[in-house]
Amino acid sequence: MKQAALFFSLMLSATVFLSLQPAPYLADEDKPVAEVLEQLGDEPAKHQPDTTVEGISAERGRALVLTGFADKPNGGRTGKQSKHFVCTSCHNVQKDDPDLSVSDPQARLLYARDRGLPFLQGTALYGAVNRTSFYNGDYEKKYGSLVTKARSDLREAIQLCAVECSQGRALEPWEMESVLAYLWTIQLKMGDLNLSEKEYKQINAALAGGKGKEAASRLIKSRYLQAAPATFAEPPKDRREGYADITGDPANGKLVYELSCLHCHEKERYSFFNLDHARTTFRHLEHHFPRYTRYSVYQVARYGASPIPGKKAYMPNYTLEKMSHQQLEDLRAYVEEMGE
Ligand code: HEC
Ligand code: HEC
Repeated sequence: MKQAALFFSLMLSATVFLSLQPAPYLADEDKPVAEVLEQLGDEPAKHQPDTTVEGISAERGRALVLTGFADKPNGGRTGKQSKHFVCTSCHNVQKDDPDLSVSDPQARLLYARDRGLPFLQGTALYGAVNRTSFYNGDYEKKYGSLVTKARSDLREAIQLCAVECSQGRALEPWEMESVLAYLWTIQLKMGDLNLSEKEYKQINAALAGGKGKEAASRLIKSRYLQAAPATFAEPPKDRREGYADITGDPANGKLVYELSCLHCHEKERYSFFNLDHARTTFRHLEHHFPRYTRYSVYQVARYGASPIPGKKAYMPNYTLEKMSHQQLEDLRAYVEEMGE
């Protein structure tokens, strides 16, 4: 009897003790990657939104990114950020890479098709707050010293994009902080990183035990790019021949046309230059493809299109990470097939 009572009271105190212990932090699929990294000892990113700025709200930031407008904190509406574009003309706000540790345009194209997303020149804003470097690689060639500050500072990167990419006005402080607050709502989750059971175990052991924290942090960071690479490319040397040793696949080219070109050009959505499925349209594209004219797709895909005088919209070039030579040949094959 005494023994049973002793056993019982021991069990009770053990339970009380355990329930007083804070629950161990567990890195499951829904946990934000940045939070897990902080738990593992990483410094928080410096682009946290400044919540002391009056009027800051993630909802307003979302409206600015998706529509270019937001309700002003003191009533009324802001002027449109850009006359020509919204952020989502060129950036997805959803995850658009199946494997975030590589930038593979063909994997992205198929992933975009399966999810009904467009295939664009800009890197997804989903997960932008998890990156540490912006306008990487060859973007320096295009924007020169403007990228120096934007490289390591997300606020500067957003402002550069608002003014240069969108050809619009700079964001006010409350708008900038609101956009940042919104971008934090589309930060990476652990579930985006394709980690195995075993890897979750390793990470959670490090979180619980204190040992192996650096290795766990490295493992997590090996599963997404901290900087989106950007390699500029030239049109083929011989535009008639196209890129050497590549045979275009029209079925894949159709995806490029519909998920990318039409996103901006269908019904003159973001451009005065209309594209559709009419045979005359394909003939026009086919005719100019191998030429040295402003309508050559090789030309506009690799160099972009400069603004028409008096109008500031322009077409951003595709880096190799955003459209491969193969995909450009696929597009040509599709255009030629549809022009017949
Ligand atoms: C006309 C196309 C276009 C529009 C509109 C546009 N962007 Fe961009 N943006 C780009 C391109 C191209 C880059 C180059 C780097 C990249 O995304 O890979 C870029 C880069 C960025 C980057 C840095 C990404 C990185 O990882 O290097 C951010 C952040 C960004 N833009 C935010 C915005 C926001 C916010 C808006 C709306 C206010 C916007 N952009 C509008 C085309 C555009
Ligand atoms: C992010 C939006 C966007 C995407 C995606 C896009 N374009 Fe453009 N494109 C533009 C804008 C803006 C212009 C500049 C002319 C204008 O304002 O009408 C332009 C210009 C052009 C021009 C030159 C037109 C002229 O009047 O000089 C061609 C040709 C063209 N695009 C073809 C394409 C093709 C083919 C694709 C797909 C591979 C494509 N575009 C994808 C926005 C885009």
